[in-house]
Amino acid sequence: MKKFFIAPSILSADFACLGKDAKKVIDAGSDLIHFDVMDNHYVPNLTMGPMILESLRNYKIEVPIDVHLMVTPVDNLIPQFAKAGASFITFHPEATQHIERTLHLIKDHGCKAGLAFNPATPLHFLDYVLEKLDVILLMSVNPGFGNQSFLPSTFNKIRDVRKIIDDSGLDIFLEVDGGVKLENISEIAHCGANVFVMGTGIFQYSNYNLIIKKIRKTLQHTCSTSIH
Ligand code: DX5
Ligand code: ZN
Repeated sequence: MKKFFIAPSILSADFACLGKDAKKVIDAGSDLIHFDVMDNHYVPNLTMGPMILESLRNYKIEVPIDVHLMVTPVDNLIPQFAKAGASFITFHPEATQHIERTLHLIKDHGCKAGLAFNPATPLHFLDYVLEKLDVILLMSVNPGFGNQSFLPSTFNKIRDVRKIIDDSGLDIFLEVDGGVKLENISEIAHCGANVFVMGTGIFQYSNYNLIIKKIRKTLQHTCSTSIH
């Protein structure tokens, strides 16, 4: 299994050519597509629903699609996203009434389940549900917009979660989302993250092949110098 996973966030793609842009970053070597769902309620922005995800699947986007729900309530959208072709569904614990029930709902619909933590959301939400998680997503910006600066307080949080995962012996992805760039990805990886969401960090470049190649090279170097 690969150690690191690159997940371009299509929030920063050209929405008039979403399918083409998604194909381009996949052809350039990405592992997943990160799909940000915002409802103008949980976060002050509005993006994409299940119909758009289904269109991407119909357009032959075949890599795993990582749905990041920034919505409240959560549960009624889960069957729709699962049916549309989601692979992972991640939600924010404070956005649902019953965290455990929502996790089960995701699994019952055949998807992998994740919890997402805002910069100030405490990790105690992991208590009692860790063994039900496939992914822990740490937000390194406040959710709602692309192209914000990475909050340095995230470094310690990544280390804390890496320890929790390693101590548990469970196979859980540690995903970091917000302000991840070629310039800081090595440090983020060193702290223990293994899934890197990158919006502007990929889509701001005109040559996706080149930037993804550089990211891989940096991660490979991190891997060979890693303390883990
Ligand atoms: C922000 C979203 C992110 C966003 C990241 O709420 O969850 O996935 O697209 O964009 P960048 O990488 O530009 O910070
Ligand atoms: Zn996201």
